[in-house]
Amino acid sequence: MDEKQIRFPSPLLTLIIYFFLLPFVLSQCNRNPVIFNFGDSNSDTGGYAVAHGLNLGDPDARTFFHQPTGRLCDGRLIIDFLCESLNTNYLTPYLESLAPNFTTGANFAICGSSTRPRSVPFSLHIQFSEFKRFQNRSLELGSKGFKNLVGEKDFKNAIYTIDIGQNDLANAFTYLSYADVVKKIPSFISEIREVMLGIYEVGGRNFWVHNTGPLGCLPEKLATRNTNANDFDEYGCIKSLNEAAKAHNMMLNALCEQLRSQTKGATIVYVDIYSIKYNLISSSASYSFENPLMACCGYGGVPYNYNANITCRSSGFSVCEEGSRYVSWDGIHYTEAANAIVASKILSTHYSTPPLNFNYFCSA
Ligand SMILES: *[C@@H]1O[C@H](CO)[C@@H](O)[C@H](O)[C@H]1NC(C)=O
Ligand SMILES: *[C@@H]1O[C@H](CO)[C@@H](O)[C@H](O)[C@H]1NC(C)=O
Ligand SMILES: *[C@@H]1O[C@H](CO)[C@@H](O)[C@H](O)[C@H]1NC(C)=O
Repeated sequence: MDEKQIRFPSPLLTLIIYFFLLPFVLSQCNRNPVIFNFGDSNSDTGGYAVAHGLNLGDPDARTFFHQPTGRLCDGRLIIDFLCESLNTNYLTPYLESLAPNFTTGANFAICGSSTRPRSVPFSLHIQFSEFKRFQNRSLELGSKGFKNLVGEKDFKNAIYTIDIGQNDLANAFTYLSYADVVKKIPSFISEIREVMLGIYEVGGRNFWVHNTGPLGCLPEKLATRNTNANDFDEYGCIKSLNEAAKAHNMMLNALCEQLRSQTKGATIVYVDIYSIKYNLISSSASYSFENPLMACCGYGGVPYNYNANITCRSSGFSVCEEGSRYVSWDGIHYTEAANAIVASKILSTHYSTPPLNFNYFCSA
């Protein structure tokens, strides 16, 4: 965890590194990166709050930002750390109407989103429709002389990040058995396939696809489901939910492989978020997490600090002192501390297929 803490020998050198080398080390981009993100709350930088007119502040953002941003987190999300790694702006939600800055991309992700059903806001399909409108308007307005818009080349060079599927599985588990949930997975994957091919058709070439995390390790699931004793694994997570997430990920990986051969000139990076997140739980002590299955913000105390009637942000919740000791912020979403570790592992390339750096697409 201390890899990034470098001791500088003199103030002068510190200044030199800070002003000349650090931006280079951080970004290593030869052109301005542009990112279009699609997904759910795991990467929603405020879209849901904007769409619903909500002012989601404290306790959210208490560790970073310190003002309402609409992120369901005490601080930064994984996508924020990925943006930081390229030294680029945090992504503006596509629906932000006040002083948006879309010069470095846009975020279509919305809390609660899933791939199915496809025609309700803000499914992946609808997020893609929004993107197409964004692209069409950007190009039209650009041709009329409007400035600070994403241009045709930027759309081609942009990184298209996708992180969705968690809600599809979670929703399916509310009314289906494990076997029937697994039967539904191909329908989720086919939505992702259609959107990736759709992006390719309108010129996108660079894809960065996150698989889904261990659903069965979320405090919310642990606290609210009736789980048989033999359905817990050695770390206390729910096996069936995690098996379904793994089945989803296997098909998503296969989709990426298939699309690599079907999309000439495209680069598709598949990132194993599941392994990274599961490792946070199975090796929690080595990251100084005290109870990896307990929410920081919630109600009820041990073991999960989660009560469906008194959730984080509703009345009566309590919040832990040190979020950095927790993997889970509110029972569903990760803390900034956990997100920081996940992001640093993503950036290591060890979990990516092919093992490309996140800055690969802006350095070529
Ligand atoms: C938008 O972001 C770009 C890239 O960081 C920056 O150069 C520009 O000044 C910003 N525009 C506004 C209006 O803030
Ligand atoms: C935008 O959409 C309109 C209506 O479908 C179409 O006529 C136009 O050619 C599109 N513009 C661009 C730049 O794609
Ligand atoms: C939530 O409230 C309902 C209705 O009052 C009650 O039946 C249920 O036991 C409560 N759940 C918890 C976890 O306290």
